[in-house]
Amino acid sequence: MARPTTATIHADALRHNLGRMRACAPGSRVMAVVKADGYGHGLERVARALEGADGFGVAALSDAERLRAAGVSQPIVLLSGFDEADDVPQLRRLQVDTVVHHADQLEMLAAVDGEPIRCWLKVDTGMHRLGFAPADVRDAHARLRALPGVADEIVLMSHFASSDVFDDGRGGGQTQAQMRAFAAATEGLGGARSLSNSAAILGWPQASGDWVRAGGATYGISVVADRTGADFGLRPAMTLATRLLAVKRVARGERIGYSATWECPEDMPVGIAAIGYGDGYPRHAPAGTPVLLDGVEVPVIGRVSMDLMTLDLRGRPQARPGDPVVLWGEVLPVERVADAAGTIGYELVCSITRRVRFVEA
Ligand SMILES: Cc1ncc(COP(=O)(O)O)c(C=O)c1O
Repeated sequence: MARPTTATIHADALRHNLGRMRACAPGSRVMAVVKADGYGHGLERVARALEGADGFGVAALSDAERLRAAGVSQPIVLLSGFDEADDVPQLRRLQVDTVVHHADQLEMLAAVDGEPIRCWLKVDTGMHRLGFAPADVRDAHARLRALPGVADEIVLMSHFASSDVFDDGRGGGQTQAQMRAFAAATEGLGGARSLSNSAAILGWPQASGDWVRAGGATYGISVVADRTGADFGLRPAMTLATRLLAVKRVARGERIGYSATWECPEDMPVGIAAIGYGDGYPRHAPAGTPVLLDGVEVPVIGRVSMDLMTLDLRGRPQARPGDPVVLWGEVLPVERVADAAGTIGYELVCSITRRVRFVEA
């Protein structure tokens, strides 16, 4: 018997979300960020649904290769840049733009010539992950411009650390400081600008520039605390679902699952659903995490195991094996499950494993 666990990917939701990003950043081109296999939704599937995107952002050259093989003709940007000289001919062959964030990359680019590669020069404005320090940007820009293997247009970019704190008068100091640092470091340099991730597209319209880079919002997910994608007019692109495998009555005082972490406070119905951490559902989701059973919320009880989870059916005593169970989707946003499990929706959708059957809707 095939497992009944499915991840349904809603192409119309992906397109709707892309439209929302365009509406929020009307003067910008929209790059759909499809790192981590399209945030777990399936790289080629997402690219097909988003053929109207102006470009795609990836974290691995192999993903760029897959996109080109799937017929993607828009610009593709390698967001983490390359880290080996052998990557340079590959970038050229695949016509992939690369982020340049480190002096070693300038040397690798200088060592190989051929068709020019478009570079996105990354400025570290305060995230302190990748990027040139503001004081080094002009020198890096001049060195890049002097390389025959680099295209004339150099895009200037940075990445926000906390754009999920909106510009609402009560916070957002770090984002403002990053915008100021970027403006100062790049003043007078030609080329397009790109700063905004999803949260900035939604909450910092003044930062949008020439290219926005939409990841989570493309999939309908919010990174803003206590808000769901729907609060921003987004639609979830993934529904994770399964079925009840069994229903049983368990006596008061009996304990449920591995390590007997949950004790039945009364004689009660318990449901066993065909999903666990082997499918990517978070093992650390505690008792009380909501699940939709036949459209009604019931709580997880006991430990989530590899293939199964147990549900408190006191609110749904008529439940039967075969009843539909939704782990997250339109009615139960992934952000609520993530909140309960102490993580973010991004991590949950990226963690679905290969044994889950993906369905396109
Ligand atoms: C450089 C860069 N730009 C854009 C994004 C998209 O971010 P988000 O998914 O929050 O929109 C990411 C993802 O982390 C990134 O690394």
